Amino acid sequence: MGRVAKLAGVSVRTLHHYDQIGLVRPSARTAGGYRAYAAADVERLREVLVYRRLGFGLREVAELVGDPTTDTVAHLHRLRGLLLERRDRVDAMVTAIDRELTARGKGLRVTPEEQLEMLGARLYDEIGGAYTATRRTDPRIAARIWGALGDARTVLNVGAGTGSYEPADREVTAVEPSEVMRGQRPAGAAPCVAAAAESLPFEDGSFDVAMAVSTVHHWHDPIAGLGEMRRVARRVVVLTFDTDEPDWQDRFWLTRDYLPEFAAVLADFPSLAAMADAIGARSESVPVPWDCADGLFEAYWRRPQAYLAEHVRRAMSVWTRVGPEAEERAVHALGDDLASGRWAARNGGLAGLEAADLGLRLLVA
Ligand SMILES: C[S@@+](CC[C@H](N)C(=O)[O-])C[C@H]1O[C@@H](n2cnc3c(N)ncnc32)[C@H](O)[C@@H]1O
Repeated sequence: MGRVAKLAGVSVRTLHHYDQIGLVRPSARTAGGYRAYAAADVERLREVLVYRRLGFGLREVAELVGDPTTDTVAHLHRLRGLLLERRDRVDAMVTAIDRELTARGKGLRVTPEEQLEMLGARLYDEIGGAYTATRRTDPRIAARIWGALGDARTVLNVGAGTGSYEPADREVTAVEPSEVMRGQRPAGAAPCVAAAAESLPFEDGSFDVAMAVSTVHHWHDPIAGLGEMRRVARRVVVLTFDTDEPDWQDRFWLTRDYLPEFAAVLADFPSLAAMADAIGARSESVPVPWDCADGLFEAYWRRPQAYLAEHVRRAMSVWTRVGPEAEERAVHALGDDLASGRWAARNGGLAGLEAADLGLRLLVA
């Protein structure tokens, strides 16, 4: 018992208590006749301790670990999902604190409602309310995605958000972890399950195709999420971003000249090659049309004034992720360069282009 307590980082008293209430009973015997933890007891203890750390009460934990329909692997999936959700909430709270600090720094009043809102928020619960102002299906990008779906009849849309790019002529199931995003799905949209990509609550091979659009860079574990898509569907279609190309930050004037911090946002993002490998995919370039209807980060490459508008930026998570200081500096510098003609002098070549390759890639497996 002493050894297990030390390994698990809890007191012997806690283990005695769990034993007394029947939560985790050491079921083996040592050669000397002392009671000891068998491998299965250690598995159960680990589950109990993680659920406890996640804040579940002892009675709830007893119900969770005592569920005869749930084996260790299912518990690990559930715990993993709960932990990722917690990390997402912590990120969102940091974002909310940054925003409040900026507001207070400017002497602005922060209402009691605003102070409380940050508790329990997730990144997309924080920023998702601004999403529908500019984010919608672009027909040219949609045509590329729908073409890649092939003859699939059943479609799983992972990180579905408000439902952009969901094909109307197939049977769609959506997966979306953010309550705010789920709440903005239009009436009549496909049914939506509250879950994360990293542990999809579906049997192997449940769908003809699993698709994911502009979401993989938000996942805590993109490779695990892609593996899950591969597991639950015969075909996988993912619209993501290429950071393999040397000097990829220089593809787009916005990151090259104004927001170099974007590179740090994607520092832990897997290479395109690793993502393609995870699902056995080929990669195709998806150019961004000059008048892209979906207000994604690269959408306004030929309409630079758009980035000066707060509501346009709020629907792009990049700006929240780089933080208010970088945002303010970049927007200020861009505004100055637009006014002085410097932006036009540097980027004059863009005026005649219909579409630009800014790193969007379609992985098709
Ligand atoms: C930029 S939005 C894209 C939404 C939609 N696919 C579209 O194209 O409009 C990113 C979405 O990914 C979701 N997301 C974040 N983490 C996720 C995860 N681990 N698994 C699945 N979706 C996630 C966010 O809540 C958000 O709705």
